[in-house]
Amino acid sequence: MTTVRVLTGIKPSGTPHLGNYVGAIRPTVRASREPGIDSYLFLADYHALISTHDPARVQRSTLEIAATWIACGLDPERVTFYRQSDIPEIPELTWLLACVCGKGLLNRAHAYKAAVDKNLADGRDADDGVTMGLFMYPVLMAADILMFNAHRVPVGRDQIQHIEMARDLASSFNHLYGEHFTLPEAVIDEQVATLPGLDGRKMSKSYDNVIPLFAPREQLRRLIMGIVTDSRVPGEPKDTEGSAVFQLFQAFATPEETAVFAREFAAGIAWSQAKERLFERIDREIAPMRATYDALMADPQRVEAILRAGAAKARAQATPFAARLRAAVGLRSLDALAQPPADTVRTSKSAPPIFKQYREADGRFYFKLTDAKGHVLLHSAGFDSPKTAGQAVARLKTEGWAACADLHTQVHVLADPQRIEAALAALRET
Ligand code: TRP
Repeated sequence: MTTVRVLTGIKPSGTPHLGNYVGAIRPTVRASREPGIDSYLFLADYHALISTHDPARVQRSTLEIAATWIACGLDPERVTFYRQSDIPEIPELTWLLACVCGKGLLNRAHAYKAAVDKNLADGRDADDGVTMGLFMYPVLMAADILMFNAHRVPVGRDQIQHIEMARDLASSFNHLYGEHFTLPEAVIDEQVATLPGLDGRKMSKSYDNVIPLFAPREQLRRLIMGIVTDSRVPGEPKDTEGSAVFQLFQAFATPEETAVFAREFAAGIAWSQAKERLFERIDREIAPMRATYDALMADPQRVEAILRAGAAKARAQATPFAARLRAAVGLRSLDALAQPPADTVRTSKSAPPIFKQYREADGRFYFKLTDAKGHVLLHSAGFDSPKTAGQAVARLKTEGWAACADLHTQVHVLADPQRIEAALAALRET
């Protein structure tokens, strides 16, 4: 089965609330358990530095958010769950991408433009208070995505432009240096549940109407008892439509439980009783997760160990991939430029260069050419079938270096042309 790589970043900021849980955490955790999905989830802590300069807060949020996701059922064994700042290849790739990114592209980024517009409207210098971090945000995000060649990136509408920019940067890089990157697609969940908050408006930190996901049981009850309702008295039928109590219940209950609750509304359940039901229903789902969360918060070392293990898993891919990218742009060992010393020339008579064909974990077919000493002279991008890979090898063998230039999107050159030409010539003789 072909797997689809799905990648999402979570900015570690603020304390998660029920709206985040229902709208993002719960569906993402569920999706990560589906077969055929290779899920990458990371804490975007480099991104967090753009909006806060409070070190203790960054550290605290990292712990809170990591503990939240694990408590909510994310399985670190199954998902690649890591902290962005544990992957040094990401800032490295950010630079490689920055060097193929037109400044004008970033000038058009919504978040940057909004900051500029606000400055101008307030009579300030256009770039007042704008850091390079904010300006470069889309490039860092593109590096997050392209580093793991994600196919799909589930994001909110506000992030679509960032995914488009990641595609633009991937295309520019591929065009210059060969097909290294998959073009990612944004996945927008049209029916993403938005929960009402305590005052009936959308639950959001900026409205100060949130119910923290892991509020202790008693605080959860108090907050729920404070949800705004209309003034209908017990015995009077209540509208389910537009009722925050009802909508919150629905987000946690089965359709059957919701139908029963609707009948109770029609029969005039007292608001206090309805809220009690709501509280018990939410707490039933949250309580076990809250216990895990509290245990993790009390044991930061365990969370650290989980994140480290995730980083090791992520780097097993990122490190070799970054090495290929470095070579592709010309950040290469100078050894490859050395004239082969006389004795290698002699041994190369007995041990000729070889093409090796192989299949990688991504299911695609690759080849590489190594010289007599085992130095890799060139390697290929992934081919869909062994046949197409074999055809490219055949062309290289017959046409030599000229084919290399022609196949530049499929072949990454790691040594200078003379050495490759010599190796291909030696192959033809054998
Ligand atoms: N910008 C995203 C947000 O604010 C967070 C993020 C950072 C991200 N890197 C990412 C999301 C890569 C998806 C993919 O929500």
